[in-house]
Amino acid sequence: MTDRIQSFEEYQQEYDLSIRKPEEFWADKAKKFTWHKEWDKVLEWNFQEPKVEWFKGAKLNIVENCLDRHLATRGDKRALIWEPNDPNGQAKTYTYKQLHKEVCRMANVLTNNGVQKGDRVCIYMPMIPELAFAVLACARVGAIHSVVFGGFSSNAIADRINDAGCSFVITSDGMYRGAKELSVKETVDEALESCSTVDKVLVVQYTHCKVKMEEGRDIWYHEALRSAGKESELQIMDAEDMLFILYTSGSTGKPKGVVHTCGGYMVYAEYTFRNVFQNKDSEVYWCTADIGWITGHSYILYGPLLAGATTVMFEGVPTWPDAGRFWQIVEKHKINIFYTAPTAIRALMTHNIDYVKKHDLSSLKVLGSVGEPINEEAWHWYRNNVGRKDLPIVDTWWQTETGGIMISPLAGLTPLKPSFATYPLPGVQPVLLDGDGNEIKENGVEGYLAIKFPWPGMIRTTYGDHERCRRTYFGVYKGYYFTGDGARRDEKGMYRVIGRVDDVINVSGHRFGTAEIENAIDEHPQVVESAVVGFPHEIKGQGIYAYVICAEGCEDEDKLRQEIHEEVIKQIGKVARPDKIQVVDDLPKTRSGKIMRRILRKVAEGETSSLGDTSTLLNPEVVESIIQGRRV
Ligand code: WTA
Repeated sequence: MTDRIQSFEEYQQEYDLSIRKPEEFWADKAKKFTWHKEWDKVLEWNFQEPKVEWFKGAKLNIVENCLDRHLATRGDKRALIWEPNDPNGQAKTYTYKQLHKEVCRMANVLTNNGVQKGDRVCIYMPMIPELAFAVLACARVGAIHSVVFGGFSSNAIADRINDAGCSFVITSDGMYRGAKELSVKETVDEALESCSTVDKVLVVQYTHCKVKMEEGRDIWYHEALRSAGKESELQIMDAEDMLFILYTSGSTGKPKGVVHTCGGYMVYAEYTFRNVFQNKDSEVYWCTADIGWITGHSYILYGPLLAGATTVMFEGVPTWPDAGRFWQIVEKHKINIFYTAPTAIRALMTHNIDYVKKHDLSSLKVLGSVGEPINEEAWHWYRNNVGRKDLPIVDTWWQTETGGIMISPLAGLTPLKPSFATYPLPGVQPVLLDGDGNEIKENGVEGYLAIKFPWPGMIRTTYGDHERCRRTYFGVYKGYYFTGDGARRDEKGMYRVIGRVDDVINVSGHRFGTAEIENAIDEHPQVVESAVVGFPHEIKGQGIYAYVICAEGCEDEDKLRQEIHEEVIKQIGKVARPDKIQVVDDLPKTRSGKIMRRILRKVAEGETSSLGDTSTLLNPEVVESIIQGRRV
């Protein structure tokens, strides 16, 4: 048995085995790790409560498996390469030994400052090495990390801190982003004005900008390090203890805290990383995501480190100082495996091809895509210009809730089809359901994508509200985990994920609930009601289109738009700013008062000739005026 699946036939055999004997299959994959006690049972589950337990009774520490386990065999191998925002800045490299040392030191700082097993720690930081140390240090001491993406506003941070009851925050003074220098600590300070659970804030000095330090609460990391020892003890965790919380948007209410646990997540992140990317020991792997999202958790940190790979972390943006930045980094660090999002590809496609051509990309062996459907045009551009016309592209479909990749080609083994994520990974049992929740068995069909059997990396609960987890994911179609996505299965059984079928918008790979954005817009004193829908956007995949009703009409629409932008930035963050805002007199509603989003979506898409039946509307006359006022 080799370490990786080596052929498509082997994939098929492994897949069959994983379906026939899932427990045996995953127990075999789990063997390689360091466990302090073996499991009593591989899997116990029901999708009604839901309750899913993998490797029940086993004891482990995931960071021991990421770092300590490799020290004897690859201690001097590069674990982490960090590339700064500024191309003239100094890249940093950490071997497994060095990364282990940094993580142990930060772990000691946490324990010295009272962090204990089970405590929730909010991490709000730019993409600097200390962010990686922070995540791993939490897991080492058994604290539950909740990383909040650096683009979120103080209100969004406060919501997440309060929901999880975090007692500790790790942040930095400031950050760089392209040509800009931004404050970070200041945003945390604002957030903490409405949080009562936080005792301590650990601040990494990075940009040396001026910050206010609150006595008794705020601690400089570099000062705390002086009294932190080098050796750190591992907290031995139960396989089903919480590892982290990561907030994500759904179609209703505030973002929910998706919970992943230690044992199953570990086994799944490692197995999927190794097989999908076909990573070899000498290779350098770069995922361009932010650690604030699940892709960064599973495929910048945990997956690659568990597999003993060399992983690259990039602080900057793809288009600064110019649109060649990604390719310059590929050349500089001789990247072999490159994993990015369709939105980045579409943005780079709009620039002169010389930005790609002037760099030596010959080190590349595998390309990947994640976060949203990749359109055929982007797929071909990526393959032809970056992939020398023949590199495999792994179009990986998965979600925050799935913990790891679910449907994807295995690089170089699975036949490819542009815009298709192709086949499920071993252990994954996808189905397509019709509107009544019946499985559609044949091929060449479309349906709602659901999963009918547990996999080790799956969501266990939503923090503090298990019923919400049940209702959202297991209550829609009885007996299935429902993904919220629609998908097509072709004649050969290959899957193409088309997009969300619920009220979730995917903007440049960032998920937002329409309700979440509406709530932010409604905070504007002049706005009476709003409705948000997605529309096709050339670069972002989907853009945000907002319809708003104003109290007493609106005299200066531009001013109102500006203020709504500011409101959304304040409530959520820049990433959720509407692309288009249309002031309307009324919204199309059904007789029961529900907004007819279908019509609003069509108008936003510009498909005004096929609005369908509007006769059931309470106020059909508003439709015409909405069409007239459409923002193009
Ligand atoms: C979408 C990101 C098509 C999908 C890992 C899913 C995709 C949502 C793909 C999850 C893909 C992700 N093809 N659609 N390869 N990958 N999606 O939680 O709609 O940020 O439900 O996880 O992104 O987004 P999330």
